[in-house]
Amino acid sequence: MTVREGIHQRRSIRRYADRPVEEEQIDLLLEAAMAAPSACDCRPWEFIVVRDPARLAALAGISPYSQMAAHCSVAIVPCAVPERQAICPGFFPQDCGAMIQNIWLQATELGLGMVWCGIHPIKELEERMAGLLETPEGVVPFALLCIGYPAEQPAPRNRFEQDRIHREQW
Ligand SMILES: Cc1cc2nc3c(=O)[nH]c(=O)nc-3n(C[C@H](O)[C@H](O)[C@H](O)COP(=O)(O)O)c2cc1C
Repeated sequence: MTVREGIHQRRSIRRYADRPVEEEQIDLLLEAAMAAPSACDCRPWEFIVVRDPARLAALAGISPYSQMAAHCSVAIVPCAVPERQAICPGFFPQDCGAMIQNIWLQATELGLGMVWCGIHPIKELEERMAGLLETPEGVVPFALLCIGYPAEQPAPRNRFEQDRIHREQW
């Protein structure tokens, strides 16, 4: 699969087959995550890998939009550590976005399905996640990534919109 193919085939997958994701695949996802660019190379992230079904069910309950967590094989919760950005503060959302997209594209290449459930910047969701995962002070649960072998195959979509492009000036 080329990068271009991966970019266009990536879709949100919310239904998963009853097949565990191998530890080696999870390692590849985390390696892809940590290869992401970040402002000043601060890499303001940590990761919580959740496989325990009871904990996955608890994560599913934090919002009506994260119910698929109860049925995925593994969830990765990327957490931001804003204090690691002392020399260039404020960039952690961009850094984490690039990092999560790396995970998603790597998952696509491996034949895994994933959906990104947004947590940051919704304080209530951040607090619920922090409570469930016992994150320390100063660590921001940034997203909930539900991952498994796919049980659905949404078609690639072309979202190119020529009229969104401005040349030289708006
Ligand atoms: C920041 C962010 C937060 C999202 N939160 C959720 C969510 O809470 N639940 C969900 O089912 N999908 C969520 N999604 C997935 C989007 O709904 C999805 O990416 C979008 O509809 C486009 O579809 P596609 O991913 O299949 O291309 C989120 C995506 C992003 C980037």
